[in-house]
Amino acid sequence: MFYSTFAHIFKITMKTNRIILNETSYFGVGTRNIIPEEVKKRNFHKAFIVTDNDLVKFGVVKQVTDVLDAASIPYSVFPEVKQNPTVTNVKAGVTAYAASGADFMIAIGGGSPTDTAKAIGIITNNPEFSDVVSLEGVANTRNKSVPVIALPTTAGTAAEVTINYVITDEEHVKKMVCVDPNDIPVLAIIDAELMSSMPKSLTAATGMDALTHAIEGYITKGAWEMSDMFELKAIEMIARHLPNAVENGKNLEARNGMATAQYIAGMGFSNVGLGAVHGMAHPLGAFYNIPHGVANALLLPYVMEYNMPAALEKYRHIAEAMGCDTANMNTEEAAQAAVNAVKALSLKIGIPQKLNEIGVKEEDLLQLAESAFADVCTPGNPRDVTIDDLFALYKKAYK
Ligand SMILES: NC(=O)c1ccc[n+]([C@@H]2O[C@H](COP(=O)([O-])OP(=O)(O)OC[C@H]3O[C@@H](n4cnc5c(N)ncnc54)[C@H](O)[C@@H]3O)[C@@H](O)[C@H]2O)c1
Ligand SMILES: [Fe+2]
Repeated sequence: MFYSTFAHIFKITMKTNRIILNETSYFGVGTRNIIPEEVKKRNFHKAFIVTDNDLVKFGVVKQVTDVLDAASIPYSVFPEVKQNPTVTNVKAGVTAYAASGADFMIAIGGGSPTDTAKAIGIITNNPEFSDVVSLEGVANTRNKSVPVIALPTTAGTAAEVTINYVITDEEHVKKMVCVDPNDIPVLAIIDAELMSSMPKSLTAATGMDALTHAIEGYITKGAWEMSDMFELKAIEMIARHLPNAVENGKNLEARNGMATAQYIAGMGFSNVGLGAVHGMAHPLGAFYNIPHGVANALLLPYVMEYNMPAALEKYRHIAEAMGCDTANMNTEEAAQAAVNAVKALSLKIGIPQKLNEIGVKEEDLLQLAESAFADVCTPGNPRDVTIDDLFALYKKAYK
């Protein structure tokens, strides 16, 4: 009797938590040299490299193809991915992959190439979803993606460890977040040397994307002890390493710190969700092609202020992780210290502070709010939001 009552209570009160991560991940400067060993072990034959033209131009792709060449691993390169990649990008990629004769993919890039590789891999192995628009939200594909080896070249999105990919639907002017455990790269190689060519502004924006993941993932409705552990550690590491990575891009200790921190943030948020910062950043990408990191970085302090009543105690931990001593502060003061620390970091690394500075039009704000309300990330926000709340937040961030 006691047991069955206990079991009943257990069943109805305990939430099930799920963690999905890569099969294998490698971390460390120069760790891309592990690729041939892994390719051989997995019996892969020919690689299809998904990347963008700037990374070819800056020699980042060559840092990886040199390793493939030395091991005589054949490959073809698909360099057409745009920032905020589109449905057209994915379609072209699916066709090119089929023609390539490859049996696995290597994604070299920021979130844009990695997300495009995920979409190509999912569609190739689940042809009933040939229209990527049908994959928006939580998709019920049956088969795993074509195997992807992901090498991030920015320290921000953590797309190499997440179960999400984000594709812009040009026709409906919308960024679609697709959530599918079948898309996760089998192998993630986190080699900070691939990130040292990032200019200051890109380092700053992508680093603030990682901080946004860590903070939103820490206070999101689905957060729990294990995701909290990842996110707090990520906040602490980002606060410590991001200014140095921006200041001196060749500082491999700072680059490696950021590379690891953004991955740790991804281990958490991919499994628990995000919030209104990402919900509001996605329409800015779709409407104006604003870089994802810039959109998040600019919005983060405004949304943190809005969310304060729903996460007061957690804000004290954020403030502490960012280096503030809150011992003599009451709960509200400590929470405000967290917002102030984020604002100070953002100013220090040169993030634009108002939407009117980055090409947003005031007359679009209501439409942006409607789009943010419908975004997959918004329901994870710790404090509920209406379209009016989102409109007010965009207005506050406007000028
Ligand atoms: N899958 C996920 O979980 C997830 C999470 C967050 C964001 N995203 C998506 O990721 C995309 C943004 O990715 P991102 O911020 O990494 O940028 P990105 O991939 O769009 O790249 C931005 C620019 O930076 C350049 N670049 C990248 N690495 C460089 C390097 N090492 N040196 C010099 N230039 C370099 C690229 O060539 C490109 O021009 C957005 O579409 C966003 O929605 C996905
Ligand atoms: Fe993001």
